[in-house]
Amino acid sequence: MAVLDVRKLSVTYRSGDGDVYAVDDVSFALEKGDSLGLVGESGSGKTTIGKAILRLLPERCIAGDSRIFFDGKDLLDASEREMRAIRGRKIGLIPQSAMNALDPVVRVGDLITEAMVLHGLTDRGGADGKIKELFASVGLDMDRRMHYPHMFSGGMRQRAVIAMAFALEPSLIIADEPTTGLDVIVQGQILKELSKLVARTGSTFMIITHDMGVVAEHCRTVAVMYAGRLVEVGPARDILLSPSHPYTMGLRNGFLGVSGKVREVISIPGAPPRLAAPARGCSFRPRCPFSESRCETEKPPMQEASCSHRVACHFRERASEMREQAMSPAAWREAPGE
Ligand SMILES: Nc1ncnc2c1ncn2[C@@H]1O[C@H](COP(=O)(O)OP(=O)(O)OP(=O)(O)O)[C@@H](O)[C@H]1O
Ligand code: SF4
Ligand SMILES: [Mg+2]
Repeated sequence: MAVLDVRKLSVTYRSGDGDVYAVDDVSFALEKGDSLGLVGESGSGKTTIGKAILRLLPERCIAGDSRIFFDGKDLLDASEREMRAIRGRKIGLIPQSAMNALDPVVRVGDLITEAMVLHGLTDRGGADGKIKELFASVGLDMDRRMHYPHMFSGGMRQRAVIAMAFALEPSLIIADEPTTGLDVIVQGQILKELSKLVARTGSTFMIITHDMGVVAEHCRTVAVMYAGRLVEVGPARDILLSPSHPYTMGLRNGFLGVSGKVREVISIPGAPPRLAAPARGCSFRPRCPFSESRCETEKPPMQEASCSHRVACHFRERASEMREQAMSPAAWREAPGE
């Protein structure tokens, strides 16, 4: 049984400025011990999916036929009381902003101790031993437990938040852009420590990121989001070596460019659509060099590209030809635009 099974998740934010169709019919599953990278541009709906899983979204914005099974239980049917027992303890969140996860007037060690004692994982006497082990795993000195969050650098705060998430021994960890805003070297160190903790604890792991490099290094499975839709999902190796969706081909170009394997960094011209209405056909059409007329009117369904690799493009059987062409900057100038 999958640890997490998200089925047909759709989320619409209702706001005074109009509705925002943030997530549209997204389905994916995570087996125990799997590591998933949810990747996509800013505004593609990644954080919304994380918040939906933890039931942290405003009332009534999740569509009625959406389902989110965690250990076989539909979280969308759970009471708020049940969710309080699940958040942190069964599903841990490492949020984008470490500052929001730490109480500014509580010493970091006390915060972690209180959380562990509250959930019955240790008594006060046993907390220090556990904190020592956790701090060592994330590269924090034990003396730091007596400090308040403002006495920490950004990187140290993020390390403390990671230690806190793992202190409650959740079976699923969701990390939402866990190193944004930190310098590249610190980012790399923290992601390595995080990956090691995931491996050591056997947790199932979902990382939200816009960075293909992070996915390549730390994830077994990749799910690519575009404008609220999942466009491609499968084993990281398959998706990085042989992407089947034109958007993933574009993302990969940027990643290969950075790693120096192609001479020029090819970016995808244009911008994602506003999400003020559900797209009729393929959301990527205005930026897609391979679009044809049916892409404007027919929404491409998710279909098998190969074993456990699914893609939402009408022309998945032409993927290898498209991959070849997508390596050329000229191809991307062929996109039809709005
Ligand atoms: N509370 C809200 N009310 C209205 N619209 C929202 C709300 N939260 C997010 N949105 C919109 O929903 C869409 C998806 O946002 P989301 O934060 O899930 O994207 P994201 O992929 O996490 O982006 P980023 O990479 O910038 O964090 C965006 O258009 C965003 O502006
Ligand atoms: S369905 Fe059409 S527009 Fe969408 S990605 Fe495939 S070729 Fe491009
Ligand atoms: Mg986000």
